[in-house]
Amino acid sequence: MLRIGVLVSGGGTNLQAILDAIESGSIPNASVELVISNKKNAFALTRAAESGVSTMVIGRKGYENGTAFDNALSDALRSADIDLVLLAGFMAILGPDFFTHFKNRVMNVHPALIPAFSGPGFYGLKVHEAVLATGCKVTGASVHFVTPEVDAGPLILQKAVEVHQDDDAETLQKRVMEEAEWKIYPQAVSLFAQGLLSVQGHHVKISQ
Ligand code: GAR
Repeated sequence: MLRIGVLVSGGGTNLQAILDAIESGSIPNASVELVISNKKNAFALTRAAESGVSTMVIGRKGYENGTAFDNALSDALRSADIDLVLLAGFMAILGPDFFTHFKNRVMNVHPALIPAFSGPGFYGLKVHEAVLATGCKVTGASVHFVTPEVDAGPLILQKAVEVHQDDDAETLQKRVMEEAEWKIYPQAVSLFAQGLLSVQGHHVKISQ
């Protein structure tokens, strides 16, 4: 059984997509054991509690520096015997120390086709605002393994989504979530849970 820990900061729709996919059996042999938020009012915490999942709040402000914050997160995840960490709308950057224990065992979903509209400063609605300002006709979402360099780890799955002429950032965010994020994130976790992913340098190979 794959023990999953999820780090969140906000609404938690991606967390919900993962919980639903486990419940329906489309992610086999896995369970979400712990949800940690760095924001105490995150609705994701309510979603976790409603599914009977343990929750914790670990805020950056409670720690002297980034390393101490990373260690607190890592310690909590390790105490719960977590095998795979999912960032699901987690709006904090993890430092290199976090990855000594969880190398190639941390995934993130990003609301654009990496390397476009990614890296420091590109998060949440800001990504969709930038896509619209550029006049892109297509955007999408990416799931990748996380490394210390923001949004630059090995890509696992990507899915394209059309931009509509009358989109604003909110309508585009909703379409990217519905058509891409909520599909490819559970798919990537399912592949991991079945042992079908291997990281070779900067590339992820999927065995079928
Ligand atoms: C999602 O669109 C996710 O891709 C994005 O924040 C939103 C969180 O929504 N993450 C990032 O921008 C990270 N760089 P959720 O809390 O409803 O899952």
